Amino acid sequence: MEKLVAKYVWEWPVRIVHWVNFLSILTLSVTGIYIGWAKTLAHDPSQYVMGWMRFVHFVAGYAFTISVISRICWAFVGNEYANWRTFVPWAFKDGRKNMKETFLFYVFARPRPPHAVGHNAMAGAAYLWVFLLYLVMICTGFALYAQYAPGSLLSRAFGWVYIFGSSQGLRLTHHCVMWLLLAFAIHHVYSAWLMDVKEKDGCMSSIFGGWKSVHEEE
Ligand code: HEM
Ligand code: HEM
Repeated sequence: MEKLVAKYVWEWPVRIVHWVNFLSILTLSVTGIYIGWAKTLAHDPSQYVMGWMRFVHFVAGYAFTISVISRICWAFVGNEYANWRTFVPWAFKDGRKNMKETFLFYVFARPRPPHAVGHNAMAGAAYLWVFLLYLVMICTGFALYAQYAPGSLLSRAFGWVYIFGSSQGLRLTHHCVMWLLLAFAIHHVYSAWLMDVKEKDGCMSSIFGGWKSVHEEE
């Protein structure tokens, strides 16, 4: 029988960033849907609901931005499972092998997934896209936000985003990427759960506590 041992994989900054991002995306989506929807309605301004929604959106937007920047820094100082290399598996021989075997498992051409202590190669590659989408949200969000103060530091820092489109184009991009992130989240929870069941590695609880079950030789 294979012997499993506990291994500390996700350091606390990785876990904190994950859950700050999750909570802020949830808050930003609820308030963002209201912002996009209520603008099309005649509502009672005395209740100042829109003001509060925008305030909460911007506070969560700042929390999300600080969290994403912290994770990018941690990719250069954290352990090997948090390292930037895990997000570009195709650039390394082992990563390409793990990617191919994980793909075969996902398309039912392999009975078991290949073993990976950190992110499997397919997950790592998917997270790179998720981080790029995070950056799209941050850049479009701050570019729209900066409109309140033309000529300010914020507006000079994010003015270049308008090369890619008008205000309405950026707003539409901001809106559509939200749905991409929410669609990703559904698939993500399903596949993390699947891997937990198939690999019996405690994947789901690891994002809370940091520990995974791995084979003794690992
Ligand atoms: C994953 C993160 C985020 C999500 C899911 C999200 C979602 C949304 C949505 C759905 C809207 C309404 C768009 C529409 O239909 O008109 C919106 C508006 C807005 N968001 Fe975000 N947002 C995010 C991050 C940010 C960040 C980081 C900022 C930066 C401060 C930001 C600033 C804004 C602003 C200024 C608007 C109002 C645009 C307008 O003038 O109509 N958002 N957001
Ligand atoms: C908006 C929703 C979510 C997004 C965008 C998201 C995104 C991510 C990202 C980018 C990572 C890589 C972490 C890193 O290396 O920094 C990750 C890992 C992980 N997430 Fe999420 N997450 C979301 C919600 C959840 C939820 C609700 C759960 C479970 C209840 C979950 C479980 C996990 C697990 C177990 C891992 C680590 C294992 C792995 O897939 O490699 N996530 N998630």
